[in-house]
Amino acid sequence: MLERYLSGVRKNIQPGDKGGNDMQLIIEKNYQEMSKKAAELVASQITFDPASVLGLATGSTPLGMYNELVKIFNKGEIDFSEVITFNLDEYYKISPDNKNSYHYYMMNNFFNKINIKGANINLLDGMTDKPQQECKNYDREIKRAGGIDLQILGIGPNGHIGFNEPGDKLCVETHLVDLTEETIKANSRFFANCKKVPKRAITVGMATILKAEKILLLASGKKKARAVKKAVNGYVDTKIPASFLQTHPHLTMVIDEEAALLLD
Ligand code: PGA
Repeated sequence: MLERYLSGVRKNIQPGDKGGNDMQLIIEKNYQEMSKKAAELVASQITFDPASVLGLATGSTPLGMYNELVKIFNKGEIDFSEVITFNLDEYYKISPDNKNSYHYYMMNNFFNKINIKGANINLLDGMTDKPQQECKNYDREIKRAGGIDLQILGIGPNGHIGFNEPGDKLCVETHLVDLTEETIKANSRFFANCKKVPKRAITVGMATILKAEKILLLASGKKKARAVKKAVNGYVDTKIPASFLQTHPHLTMVIDEEAALLLD
């Protein structure tokens, strides 16, 4: 299924470039500016279509964007009442009230601060005893919602998107995944130590991400510069899952100057 996305691959993207695939690279001065820009783009999407289906990411990177969206909401300039969301991933196993779960993150950093309807929030169940069933149901629900209108993504230092980890193959559908050592190490900053980080996760697959109508990827800081370069200037390669985004017809990357350091 991924092959059909490979037809329009572009090699080199320059700042402000809007080439054939309508891929746009926006470089902001710092994390704060990146977050504001990202929030503006999400708010525009919701103004354009108040019943937008958003694919949402967690982690440090989008936190500023969520804060900015809450500010816009508090000014009365945005209405989430018809918005539907699907989160990208969740650790396995982790309970929703664990502070390191993405469920807890989303509720406390975003959903509890806006007027989204509970029924419109879709989060993966990190405690399920039937992960295969959970994955199937999630894909079915995304389809039933008409697919993702705007997918927000971070990028791992190893080039992962969601928890689609580098490897010889990438998985198309929502699936249970073994996290790589690099990801466990990168995410251990939130846990007491590496041993406490769950070794597995459930993530939506590459097809769900690539089938989104629009994608917004955020990256901040020097530690992301290598992954950003490989994603943008490198070959499309399963060892850098984010490189597949080069094939997407409507990708916007909003990154800060440090994350852009290694770009051609
Ligand atoms: P981060 O994670 O935003 O916490 O750096 C991004 C990711 O791993 O996808």
